[in-house]
Amino acid sequence: MSDYLLNLMKTRRSIRKYTDERIPKEWLDKIIEAGLYAPNAGGGQRSMLLVIDGPDLVEKIGRLNASCMHRERLIGGYVSAEQPSLIDDVRIKSGFYGAPTVIAIFAQKHFLYNTADAFCIAENVVLASHSLGISSCIVARGEETFETVEGKSFLEKWNVDENMECKCFVTLGYIDGPYPKEKERRKGRVMVVTG
Ligand SMILES: Cc1cc2nc3c(=O)[nH]c(=O)nc-3n(C[C@H](O)[C@H](O)[C@H](O)COP(=O)(O)O)c2cc1C
Repeated sequence: MSDYLLNLMKTRRSIRKYTDERIPKEWLDKIIEAGLYAPNAGGGQRSMLLVIDGPDLVEKIGRLNASCMHRERLIGGYVSAEQPSLIDDVRIKSGFYGAPTVIAIFAQKHFLYNTADAFCIAENVVLASHSLGISSCIVARGEETFETVEGKSFLEKWNVDENMECKCFVTLGYIDGPYPKEKERRKGRVMVVTG
């Protein structure tokens, strides 16, 4: 592996503070292309990317997303002091943290590897974004966001196939403030067996 790729992986962080600046269409197209080339179970290419572009729409869906977070079900801890998440700061109202653009990743309902497929796309998207100087954060609660009455009406309006469900989101934008340093890795997470 090239040092460039490893460095990209090590320095990418989840960013939750964004400026209003939109990302250029040319960059967005490259990021989407990276997502489309993710590994996928059985080579079926069953997942799709839905770009939610524009601060007002992103804010609406982001608030829906935040409303689906049930604090009482969370188990302890904080996520980040430098880039606080919904869990860390109750004042945050949008699960998309003010990012100007979000990619919703949809996968085929009832397909065994639908979640895995979607998150492979998400990983490609965050790394491609980072390589272009665009910050990102993977956000959960895809299914719940679009199970709300308002969420369902968006899917109808956008003509999303009923056989598809949202597995996750990736926020995209330019960081507001300093970029956080890479995080130390917990020890003892690797085993090697030989035979
Ligand atoms: C499956 C998955 C779900 C996540 N969901 C959320 C989320 O809903 N909201 C959020 O702010 N961050 C979310 N994250 C980002 C993680 O909090 C973040 O990756 C983790 O804290 C490590 O920090 P880093 O990405 O900066 O290294 C998610 C990440 C993954 C892989």
